[in-house]
Amino acid sequence: MVSMDTLVSLCKRRGFVFQSSEIYGGTGSCWDYGPLGVELKSNIKRVWWRDFVQRRPDMVGIDASILMHPTVWKASGHLENFTDPMVDCRECKLRFRADQVDALPWTHFCPATKGNKFTIPPGEPCGHCAARRTLCPDCGKGELTPPRQFNLMFKTFMGPVEEDAGVTYLRPETAQAMFVNFENVLQSMRLKLPFGIAQAGRSFRNEITPGNFIFRSREFEQMEIEYFVNPHDRVEGRPADEYWHDRWIADCLAWFRRYGLRDENLRLREHDRDELSHYSKRTVDIEYAFPFTDWGELEGIANRTDFDLKAHEKLSGQDLTYYDQERDVRYHPYVIEPAAGADRATLAFLVDAYSVDEAPTAKGTMEKRTVLRLHRDLAPTKVAVLPLSRHEDLVPEAKRVFDVVKPHWMTDYDDAGAIGRRYRRQDEVGTPYCVTVDFDTLQDRAVTVRDRDSMAQERIEIVKLLDHLRERLDGAPA
Ligand code: GAP
Repeated sequence: MVSMDTLVSLCKRRGFVFQSSEIYGGTGSCWDYGPLGVELKSNIKRVWWRDFVQRRPDMVGIDASILMHPTVWKASGHLENFTDPMVDCRECKLRFRADQVDALPWTHFCPATKGNKFTIPPGEPCGHCAARRTLCPDCGKGELTPPRQFNLMFKTFMGPVEEDAGVTYLRPETAQAMFVNFENVLQSMRLKLPFGIAQAGRSFRNEITPGNFIFRSREFEQMEIEYFVNPHDRVEGRPADEYWHDRWIADCLAWFRRYGLRDENLRLREHDRDELSHYSKRTVDIEYAFPFTDWGELEGIANRTDFDLKAHEKLSGQDLTYYDQERDVRYHPYVIEPAAGADRATLAFLVDAYSVDEAPTAKGTMEKRTVLRLHRDLAPTKVAVLPLSRHEDLVPEAKRVFDVVKPHWMTDYDDAGAIGRRYRRQDEVGTPYCVTVDFDTLQDRAVTVRDRDSMAQERIEIVKLLDHLRERLDGAPA
């Protein structure tokens, strides 16, 4: 599996992801998506929306504001429960999550070696004096404060004055907008249970120990679904909420597989009872074998019961029940919530797509090539048009071919350097097809289409090029 260093360097070099405000030294755990990264992430969000909203009869979408009424966060429990225990170093002022401080390597000035400085692996004692860590793991000098609860929501002020009455928060999840809009959506779309509301958008968390690139950042994008079911119904002999919970787990797992994540890098993990969020009856995570950890959460699928609708009903005073016409009863639906992260999905797709193999050179020898085997629907650039050289007869012909292809797919034009190097550049960013214009093109009105994965080349008449690419790029879903 590719190392994080290699991937982060590729992401920067090839315009996928940059450190935010890099010229000022960077903003802690915020990232900017570059020209190829923005294509990749929007393709992920687009196929997610297409598959889970547009292609399903039981789903609709919304796009809500990031700033919501502050009472939303009281009702949801975020003001009270969305906290991490943290400790501060009294000396260097660094802040750590109390439950993660023992998992860090620690700095030690060892009295048995005249105060020499050592970095000791997490949880281990000093090999010279047998001391264990008690001080700040980073500076090795300061005492740590007792743990305090730290709320992860970003506070801000609504309106022109900074006063308590104007305090609000940047949303820490997209989910709550689906609950507060439950009645609006239900009435405007005349929906019947079971149905779901989806949203993809930004969320903000002032994470104490963010890190690992785009895996955990302070500003990120979520793709969430709140799927409302009648808990009194039975489906295939089981309570409807339990049946739908398992259905969503299977559907979400299949979705990640469909777009390229390998089975051996995916697993399901059931939350233990003491780990469940305050609203959850049962939660199962889809985890991915990220390079920096054994397994990391990609998506959580929770049974949130009727917690949220009841909590918002209580604080807003609005009736948030569902009227079941057939049975002539009102009740609060239960909610199954598949909650995925667009940035973590982007990272997982990049990791799984990264591979190194060998390709023939012009001299007939073999050389290493890096290739992103991204699913065609996710690849940032779908086609690259390459004249064999910058010869004055080839360039205008290649530009004409580029003009034919560009309106249909994200297409690159590249005439800089040897053709082999240009293939390598496109392979490295996952472009599925390269179209080469050579001297024969001027006679036979045909181009060579090269497949990224097999490196096979086919001669295709220019008049048939769009059909050829359409079949491969827009054909029946994979
Ligand atoms: N509404 C439920 C909810 O927000 P969550 O498990 O806290 O649940 C859902 O978040 C998903 O959002 C996670 O599985 C992860 O993919 C993504 N996510 C959460 N915190 C993140 C962070 N700090 N950086 C990047 N992605 C994050």
